[in-house]
Amino acid sequence: MRILESIAGLRRELASPRDGGRRIAFVPTMGNLHEGHRRLMHVAREHGDCVVASIYVNPLQFGPNEDLAGYPRTPDEDIRALQEEGVDLLFMPGDAEVYPRGQEAMTRVEVPGISDILCGASRPGHFRGVTTVVNRLFNLVQPPVAVFGKKDYQQLFLIRRMVEDLGMPVAIVGVDTVRDDDGLALSSRNGYLNQAERSAAPQLYATLNGLAEQIRRAHKFHPEFTAPAVEQLRQAGFRPDYLSVRRAGDLAEAGGADRALVILAAAWLGRTRLIDNLEVTLPD
Ligand code: PAJ
Repeated sequence: MRILESIAGLRRELASPRDGGRRIAFVPTMGNLHEGHRRLMHVAREHGDCVVASIYVNPLQFGPNEDLAGYPRTPDEDIRALQEEGVDLLFMPGDAEVYPRGQEAMTRVEVPGISDILCGASRPGHFRGVTTVVNRLFNLVQPPVAVFGKKDYQQLFLIRRMVEDLGMPVAIVGVDTVRDDDGLALSSRNGYLNQAERSAAPQLYATLNGLAEQIRRAHKFHPEFTAPAVEQLRQAGFRPDYLSVRRAGDLAEAGGADRALVILAAAWLGRTRLIDNLEVTLPD
């Protein structure tokens, strides 16, 4: 696996696969890689014959009171994991490479509206940071295909929208969430949980499943289903940020007639903010 820290080096290394007609499949990450990330690499391999990963903890997507400084950085383990997954090329740029003009002065990319709901409501500017960096990475790597996890459902939605709005020639592949045996969605932030929090954490996914079951039984979503689910999270020790049933197609609030739904939630356990989601498709 070739590891490149500079844009010049990346361009040099990408020239030969590109000229040789090899299809580049790209997986951007912030490192501290777990089985969820590994799954993305695996799926990338199915869609391309040159897998490019990036590791960059993007300061632009962290709020002033968020965990940028403490975000887990494990480059040695990450490199080993990517080698095991057969990744061809790893781009690990520094801030000066990604934001040569400084992050405040760089051109930004923002999807209006949807960037400000759900996670965007409690993390102002977060998704603008995500779409800005993903746009820049796409332009540097120029992949025909890029792979993202459904665990970050709203992020995946916004990246698809950005690609569509900007007419970018990249196919976006979404990958199902990889979970621990007890249902907890794998996340780099799970490492922040203490033992008691870790044992409560699976209740997030369990709550989403309970709500999904209720919707299926009723054959439709009723708005009054959500309050008891939020209360269930509180009982399990969470501080819920939001729990919302949306239309999978446009993330608008779901109504009783909608069939393709997604339940999204974010909740704090102590100092850790966990997110999860579950798609529910009702028969017509
Ligand atoms: P990061 O949190 O490192 O996630 C990188 C990719 O891995 C994202 O597409 C995310 O959805 C996916 N992923 C994380 N946990 C997963 C799981 N349990 N199952 C399946 N996929 C999972 O998301 C980011 O980084 C950043 O916002 C980034 C897109 C790299 C832009 O900075």
